[in-house]
Amino acid sequence: MAKKLYIKTFGCQMNVYDSERMAQSLAVRGFAATPEIEDADVIVLNTCHIREKAAEKVYSDLGRMRRIKQSRERAGKATIIAVAGCVAQAEGDEIVARAPQVDLVVGPQSYHRLGELIAARPASTHALVETQFPPEDKFQRLPRRALTRAVSAFLTIQEGCDRFCTFCVVPYTRGAEFSRAVAEVEAEAQQLAAGGVREITLLGQNVNAYHGLAADGRRASLARLIETLAAISGLARLRYTTSHPRDMSEDLVAAHRTQPKLMPYLHLPLQSGSDRVLAAMNRGHTLADYLALIARMRGARADMAFSTDIIVGFPGETDADVDATLEAVERVGFAQAYAFMFSPRPGTPAATLPRQVPEAAKKERLARVQAALARQQTAFNKACIGRTMPVLFEREGRRAGQLAGRSPYGQAVHAPAHSSLLGSVVEVEIVRLDAHSLAGRVASGMDAGGADARRARLC
Ligand code: SAH
Ligand code: SF4
Ligand code: F3S
Repeated sequence: MAKKLYIKTFGCQMNVYDSERMAQSLAVRGFAATPEIEDADVIVLNTCHIREKAAEKVYSDLGRMRRIKQSRERAGKATIIAVAGCVAQAEGDEIVARAPQVDLVVGPQSYHRLGELIAARPASTHALVETQFPPEDKFQRLPRRALTRAVSAFLTIQEGCDRFCTFCVVPYTRGAEFSRAVAEVEAEAQQLAAGGVREITLLGQNVNAYHGLAADGRRASLARLIETLAAISGLARLRYTTSHPRDMSEDLVAAHRTQPKLMPYLHLPLQSGSDRVLAAMNRGHTLADYLALIARMRGARADMAFSTDIIVGFPGETDADVDATLEAVERVGFAQAYAFMFSPRPGTPAATLPRQVPEAAKKERLARVQAALARQQTAFNKACIGRTMPVLFEREGRRAGQLAGRSPYGQAVHAPAHSSLLGSVVEVEIVRLDAHSLAGRVASGMDAGGADARRARLC
């Protein structure tokens, strides 16, 4: 009987991608995914180290998993518990010391070895910990990406980060910046498109620093890579995330004008609206630089919208700095945003800076910033009512006869529509703003059961 695998994923989209690749590399070794953790012979926790809360969550989950392992043991069944991802990389052996039920620890650059480690574990007297940055490239060692039934998929093109923002663990957990070769990315994208994927989100910790090797032996920018991928006929939409404002090159800005498949939506972390705080964060840009970039992007494509990340409570941040952040938020007008309280992370410069902000002040600042961001998001969504926009239908909706998909701005949209429109980009008139999504109706002439709609596909 096939062995069973259960993977739980925390953290960013790259972890989602990594989990898919891990599952697939174990599938070729005979492991079938199960949604029931109690049935799993192998449990993988793919972890995130970005903030303390995320990292601590891993240990509470491991407590639950120890009990599952013990009860399976009583029934004569062995269980291997593996910790993968950024906590694995950051804490290594410490995880086993704190949670002895853990059998394997495998960092983000070594998970191509997961199958081997699982096979080796029963004969080993101790847990196996693999957190080197191995010289071999994991992408070369992983089995070819399997066909997916999804309409929208992630594709990692760049990993690691050389920017060293003073609050951030990523340069330590993911390692130095690395770009996959253009041909390798293209082959994976072609394979996804052949399986029916219509939208690809290109992933990287600093994705716009992409500089993969091209066939001519030179380095290709993200803009050039996008041009190559846009030529794949089945693909309707391309996105990329996460970008650093400093790496937003002019050719990439221009790509938003020249490449219709590139969505008019960009996640561009601002972090703070105060130049003093931005400098202490080592972001390498001022607020004026950021605003000028937003203006250039809007110049390239007038319908651009932006999302962002903001940190409140960075060491030394004053109320005046928070006001500067709120003012910056007002000036940009974000379609969506995430705000976080600064979390001191071990080994990062900001963790030991003087003038750490008390927890209560962080909470109060977070509430203020989140309220402003929520107002903007609602205003953006409300402004969409009455507009007709292309929606890529990705799945059946919650109600019968409904499909659900995404607008160019990543908003969830649902509309009554025939299931033959799944995987199609269809013009939808937005009629209402629901709690978590926009309600729409397929523009006239496009809902007759597919034929008209297929003709009306945008791409
Ligand atoms: N590579 C991306 C994302 C990094 S992590 C980038 O360049 O922005 C995602 C977000 O988490 C960051 O943008 C930042 O806002 C937040 N973050 C990172 N470290 C943090 C910390 N120590 N405390 C609070 N938020 C943090
Ligand atoms: Fe972290 Fe992003 Fe800064 Fe890199 S650019 S150090 S990933 S916040
Ligand atoms: Fe978390 Fe690692 Fe992603 S720290 S945000 S899982 S790169």
